[in-house]
Amino acid sequence: MELKPPRSACESASNVLVRCDAVDLGVHVPPRSAQLAYLDPPFGVGGAFGARLPGGEGWRARGAVAYIDRWPSIEAYLAWLEPRVAAVRECLSSDGTMWLHLDHRAVHEAKGVCDRVFGRAAFLGEVIWATGNGARGARRGPAMTHQTLLLYAAGREFVWNARDPNLREPFASTSLAMHFKQKDGDGRWYRERTLAGRTYRYYADEGRAIGSVWSDCPAMSANTPLTREATGYPTQKPMRLLERIVRASSRAGARVVDPFCGSATTLVAAARLGRSFSGCDVGMIAVETAARRLEAEGVPFELRLPSNECPASTPASSPSF
Ligand SMILES: C[S@@+](CC[C@H](N)C(=O)[O-])C[C@H]1O[C@@H](n2cnc3c(N)ncnc32)[C@H](O)[C@@H]1O
Repeated sequence: MELKPPRSACESASNVLVRCDAVDLGVHVPPRSAQLAYLDPPFGVGGAFGARLPGGEGWRARGAVAYIDRWPSIEAYLAWLEPRVAAVRECLSSDGTMWLHLDHRAVHEAKGVCDRVFGRAAFLGEVIWATGNGARGARRGPAMTHQTLLLYAAGREFVWNARDPNLREPFASTSLAMHFKQKDGDGRWYRERTLAGRTYRYYADEGRAIGSVWSDCPAMSANTPLTREATGYPTQKPMRLLERIVRASSRAGARVVDPFCGSATTLVAAARLGRSFSGCDVGMIAVETAARRLEAEGVPFELRLPSNECPASTPASSPSF
């Protein structure tokens, strides 16, 4: 595709897609302006990811290398990650939240990084995303069928839209039968509970909070050519997952930031839900894919490329050591 000429970073635009390193996010996002940051960086898997092209019955990683995810050690990976998490921290508003998406390879050490940047007390908890992919590699210990998202708040008061229907699920049928025995004037079933002297009312039709294990956002929906959302970009995340995150931690009109935006899943989710976005990625294939996807979505955005940039298939790479 033909990418439009760059504009100055100083010009204001509500939606921005930038080709840059996440460490430079602050050049493009004003300090304390974003209510949500979703980070889906390379996980430290020790390999390269090729763009996928349709073939046979599914996508095949036969395209050019989109990004390289290789570090000589976990220490080197964490040293790379920390300044990027810190750059994100600077962009968050006082009611903002960061979601850092990783897997078992680095998430435990990465929590230490986030604790240093945000403060340990800022940790809100974690979401386990059960990807729905089949178990592989189970001969040497349990097969990893989940990934982990760490949540951190920038301040004491943070956005959490607990009542959003996307964060609710039906009560168990036994609970409905046992507890929801009262009906209000509108015919809605409810129960009341008194805790520490205060009485709370729960409506059956509002359901209960979904909790921290999410298994209803299958990874396959982003990674099979049979679905409309698949772009062929490797490690693309499902729209359903990102829509839930955006709904949970931002309000309509807020700015959502994704410094490792890849194919722009977060940016599309933000736009669909009436938020503005700033996304960046260091890889040209990612930026091309993201721009194409946003255009297909009909979302207006400003594309910022380094001044001497011409579209090419340069992969994002891990730093050389
Ligand atoms: C796991 S993928 C993100 C996928 C994305 N969430 C999606 O749904 O398509 C990680 C991305 O980080 C990008 N990346 C790697 N190093 C980067 C850096 N230093 N700054 C910004 N982006 C980087 C890669 O090009 C890749 O697109």
